[in-house]
Amino acid sequence: MEPGEGSPQQIRQALLFFVFLGGSLVCSETWRYSVAEETEIGSFIGNVVKDIGLGVEDLAARGARVIFDDYKPYLQLDRQTGNLILNEKLDREALCDLTEPCILHFQVLFENPLQFFRAELRVKDINDHTPTFLDKHILLKISESTTPGTSFQMDSAQDLDVGKNAVQNYTLSPNPHFHLKLQDSEEGRKYPELLLDQPLDREKEPELRLTLTALDGGSPPRSATALVRVLVSDINDNAPEFERSVYEVLVPENSPLDSLVVKVSATDLDAGLNGELSYSFSHVSRDIRKTFEIHPISGEVRLKALLDFELIKSYTINIQAIDGGSLSGKSTILVSVVDVNDNPPEIVITSLTSPIPENSSPEMVVAVFSLRDQDSGDNGRMVCSIQDNLPFLLKPTFKNFYTLVTESPLDREKRAEYNITITVTDMGTPRLKTEHNITVLVSDVNDNAPAFTQTSYTLSVRENNSPALHIGTVRATDRDAGANAQVTYSLLPPLDPHVPLASLVAINPDNGHLFALRSLDYEALRAFEFRVGAADRGSPALSSQALVRVLVADDNDNAPFVLYPLQNASAPCTELVPRAAEAGYLVTKVVAVDGDSGQNAWLSYQLLKATEPGLFGVWAHNGEVRTARLLSERDAAKHRLLVLVKDNGEPPLSASVTLHVLLVDGFSQPYLPAPEAEAAAAAPAAPLTVYLVVALASVSSLFLFSVLVFVAVRLCRRGGAASVGRCSVPEGPFPGHLVDVSGTGTLSQSYQYEVCLKGGSGTSEFKFLKSVASNHQESVNDVEENSNFINGFGFN
Ligand SMILES: *[C@@H]1O[C@H](CO)[C@@H](O)[C@H](O)[C@H]1NC(C)=O
Ligand SMILES: *[C@@H]1O[C@H](CO)[C@@H](O)[C@H](O)[C@H]1NC(C)=O
Ligand SMILES: *[C@@H]1O[C@H](CO)[C@@H](O)[C@H](O)[C@H]1NC(C)=O
Repeated sequence: MEPGEGSPQQIRQALLFFVFLGGSLVCSETWRYSVAEETEIGSFIGNVVKDIGLGVEDLAARGARVIFDDYKPYLQLDRQTGNLILNEKLDREALCDLTEPCILHFQVLFENPLQFFRAELRVKDINDHTPTFLDKHILLKISESTTPGTSFQMDSAQDLDVGKNAVQNYTLSPNPHFHLKLQDSEEGRKYPELLLDQPLDREKEPELRLTLTALDGGSPPRSATALVRVLVSDINDNAPEFERSVYEVLVPENSPLDSLVVKVSATDLDAGLNGELSYSFSHVSRDIRKTFEIHPISGEVRLKALLDFELIKSYTINIQAIDGGSLSGKSTILVSVVDVNDNPPEIVITSLTSPIPENSSPEMVVAVFSLRDQDSGDNGRMVCSIQDNLPFLLKPTFKNFYTLVTESPLDREKRAEYNITITVTDMGTPRLKTEHNITVLVSDVNDNAPAFTQTSYTLSVRENNSPALHIGTVRATDRDAGANAQVTYSLLPPLDPHVPLASLVAINPDNGHLFALRSLDYEALRAFEFRVGAADRGSPALSSQALVRVLVADDNDNAPFVLYPLQNASAPCTELVPRAAEAGYLVTKVVAVDGDSGQNAWLSYQLLKATEPGLFGVWAHNGEVRTARLLSERDAAKHRLLVLVKDNGEPPLSASVTLHVLLVDGFSQPYLPAPEAEAAAAAPAAPLTVYLVVALASVSSLFLFSVLVFVAVRLCRRGGAASVGRCSVPEGPFPGHLVDVSGTGTLSQSYQYEVCLKGGSGTSEFKFLKSVASNHQESVNDVEENSNFINGFGFN
């Protein structure tokens, strides 16, 4: 602290004092000094001694001091030399800000005597500051519709320096749209404006980045930059555009509902609402609206209804895209429906003839039908078939018409019904098949005659049947149908008009049952034949016939009939037996016949009663009566024997006969020579009954009859020769006997002959004398011849 220096308080009071006293103490001249800002401390500014014109010694003596108006010690006074020395680094911008020139006023004060000198220090600017933009990022939103020439004001850059060190110039990075224009502000400062030279196109260049540079006038100049982002805002200056003017798509017709047909897409260069698109159909038919739908946002076109190639093969769909500003773009979708084999073939039967008559000529048209397949191409090509092994053919006619014809005549009796499956297959992928069944019936033609189950029928009807007895059934079948197969039975006229067929049998025309019309008698009619007919009801009717043979079976309805000896005769035979007869002497032979046949006619003989039992015996099977022992004188002369003749029927029938035997002494010559008698005794000579049975079974009745007659005659002759016995042949026919002569049902009468022996005794020859009653001469001849035959049996 320098000694002369008062306190600042004191100095301030003194100055104030001088001001009131008037200016006489203040020098009117002002000393001016200058210094560049930021000059180093201690730098020389000026010398007051030289300027005031005082001696250096005064400075110290008079207590000279430097006082700035703000009392800050910017300068220091060297009292030894009078030099003003910079006491601190001065910052012009801090001291004066924008004030220019920047002057710091100060006084050089002398205390004793008090004297003031005015001075000022000018702080000169140096370019020590760089321009700055307050906002280094400048955002400009400019509509693309802005017309060229429009200007956009920009904030200016700041520079603390002044004068030419302040911002002097602005530049803009080169670009085609803007140039920079400098404007003077009211404060005289320059500020930049962007001037639009060329229209903006957001769609081309939605954003521009420009560099704005501020330059000060320093040397070298300092600069600052700011980034200007120009955002071009949209106007709806672009219509939507589809990526394709025509979309061609193929869609299979069997695509399911909601399947994607195509996805269309349009673009709009505009932004925001102007670029927001909505898709829709444009002027489309109801069909299209029914079938397709388009999603307004995604642009997907989907199926709303099923497609059918056969109905509509293609669609032309006009579509549009509209942006938020109502601008629109158009396109077209060409939808081609692709045929899929989704239709099976169809069969339409136009005509069907059923039933068809059998035996009709081949190629008869049974059915006419047409085929259809709604698909196209191979999917619609068809092949048609029926089962193998059917007598039918398929014939194509014109277009898709076919006929089903018979291949060969049909036979209803073989097959009356055909189930024909018409199969149609198309050639598509996959192959679709349709079947149609038709049933063809074959109608009957009367081409089959009734056929009897047997060509001939043999029936064994017992005689004595009740009238109207059902004796059998004939049956015929007819393979035809309906009336053609309805069989009616009838009796055909007999071949032999003499057979009274109409009185014998009847037939039920409906069922072929045969009835006997009357009681049959085996003994009268053993068998008969007739023909039956079977006719159908076709038109014309067909018929056939069969033979029916009726055999009458025998019943034991005839009792044995004794031919010899005759009963009831006026002169009964008496057999004469010599008392000298040996045992076994043949007394006589009971001869009986039976009208029945077979076992019913087998006769057996039995001695029922005798006057003297044990004297005579009867041979059971031939009716021979022989002596059982030697006769004696004691034996009575007259004997009566009762012989029973019984047949073998069931129940047996019988007859009895009484024999009269007279024992005589006068006859020594036996009737039969001894050798003959011996032979008869040794071999009881094939019993007569047996012969009769054989005869009944094998020869005609007439022959039998003749045998009977012969036996009777012979026995009578014996009696006659003896001149003792008297016999007679029965008169008239045998009672109750009808003889079937021809075996064919022809009835005949019986015959009776007188015969006489031709030779002497021991011979068997005889001769018919005359016919008692005959209506059949040939039969007589037969008998004559047959007589020899009988002899051949050794019957004598
Ligand atoms: C500003 O700078 C530009 C480019 O450097 C120059 O052409 C122009 O003359 C300068 N303007 C002023 C006023 O200095
Ligand atoms: C034909 O078909 C019908 C009905 O399906 C059937 O009743 C009949 O038995 C069939 N006929 C033949 C011969 O197959
Ligand atoms: C036709 O007939 C056949 C054989 O009887 C049978 O399998 C088929 O189901 C029938 N078809 C029709 C459509 O009735």
